[in-house]
Amino acid sequence: MIDGSRKTRGPAGAEHLLTNIERSPSGARGPTASSGARSSLGGVSRRIFVCGASAGLAAAALGCAPGATRQSLSPQPPPKGVDPALVEILRLAALAPSGHNAQPWFVAIEGMNLSIQRDESCELPAVDPQNRELALSVGAFIENLSLAAGAAGFTAEIEIVGQDPKEDHELARVSLIPSEASGYNLERLEQRRTLRKGHLDRPLDNTTLAALTGPLDHFAFFPADSAEGRRLAELTYGANEQQTWRDDAQRELAMWMRLADEEVEAQRDGLTPEGMEIHGIAGAVVRRYDNEDVMSKRFRERSLKMVREQLDAYGGWLVIRGLSGLEGLIQTGRQWQRSFLLARELGVAFHPMTQALEEKGYVDLVLEEFGGSGGWPQFLLRTSFVAPEDYAAPVSPRKPVAWFVDVVER
Ligand SMILES: Cc1cc2nc3c(=O)[nH]c(=O)nc-3n(C[C@H](O)[C@H](O)[C@H](O)COP(=O)(O)O)c2cc1C
Repeated sequence: MIDGSRKTRGPAGAEHLLTNIERSPSGARGPTASSGARSSLGGVSRRIFVCGASAGLAAAALGCAPGATRQSLSPQPPPKGVDPALVEILRLAALAPSGHNAQPWFVAIEGMNLSIQRDESCELPAVDPQNRELALSVGAFIENLSLAAGAAGFTAEIEIVGQDPKEDHELARVSLIPSEASGYNLERLEQRRTLRKGHLDRPLDNTTLAALTGPLDHFAFFPADSAEGRRLAELTYGANEQQTWRDDAQRELAMWMRLADEEVEAQRDGLTPEGMEIHGIAGAVVRRYDNEDVMSKRFRERSLKMVREQLDAYGGWLVIRGLSGLEGLIQTGRQWQRSFLLARELGVAFHPMTQALEEKGYVDLVLEEFGGSGGWPQFLLRTSFVAPEDYAAPVSPRKPVAWFVDVVER
């Protein structure tokens, strides 16, 4: 185990009683080609046969082409009355990761002063009732915003104004002050992605780990075959199982699934087949599902099988600790994002699997067994080396800037 506490701060009082509940994004996976299609999906079996018998362009023409991706979305007009440099900064900020890809941020713009708010329509009450993950996601958004602003020649002065991500609507204020461009490599923002497949089963070496965790104050890395690694896998599977059979969590997951290409184009958020790495024939099948299929026994069983497979081969667990409360969560989200932005160039995949931090009965065990200096575990990340050819481009959709901003008249 490598423990990386760089600073010592105590956990914040009783705030460690995290009651959040997460869902099983991996659970979003549908049947594979070999599983065949359900009879309720009229015409799908025949389609699979045709696709399976075809190859290359012919297969693509018949519906086995890739599903909708970030790159395939039609361009949308920028918001009116906003400086184009700011529009670009906000576009890059929104490339941040978020639970269920809900993109729970909203920005009120007054010149170069921004009010960062939570978007209540993007909350996940069944899996994140305290908005803990929402705050971590907004932290990642703020980090991207700060880095993009720096590269564009602005210093982002950030003030956390709220205290509780559940109660407070406005979370932070940001003022962009002209300054010298930072030279930060924005390709890192464009190229970052969550990777759930292709994890290699060897632990990270110390050099890679040191580079990856440079931005983190408090973390620990446990190789998959260590006692702690095996314990985290056990807790993660148990929590996934519990969550997958919890109807309110599964219903919420279904609501954030964007299975059909038209839905991806219209909504530009949520979990898509391509984003979940369901490609080829399996992707073609899943794109024909409706969201009600996500509630089926078969779908849930398949989801758990995928989780089991994910936990069979990987490098290890990166446990990131941080304080609870809005400021601590935003700080942890920012640090995590800085680390995440280095992952691709280090050949490392990050896969957040935070269900064990969220499901009742599991949270206390994780806090008890994996707490440490600097706060409480806030992220459990399956972390592994990945072959360069398996590090695909990012594909999860994002809402255009005009959809998540409002211009305040001065
Ligand atoms: C707070 C948080 C929790 C997440 N939890 C999970 C998870 O449990 N399982 C998973 O597969 N992905 C998880 N993700 C990853 C998101 O699904 C992912 O960021 C989102 O779909 C956008 O995709 P991208 O990261 O490739 O841009 C989480 C992300 C965040 C920010």
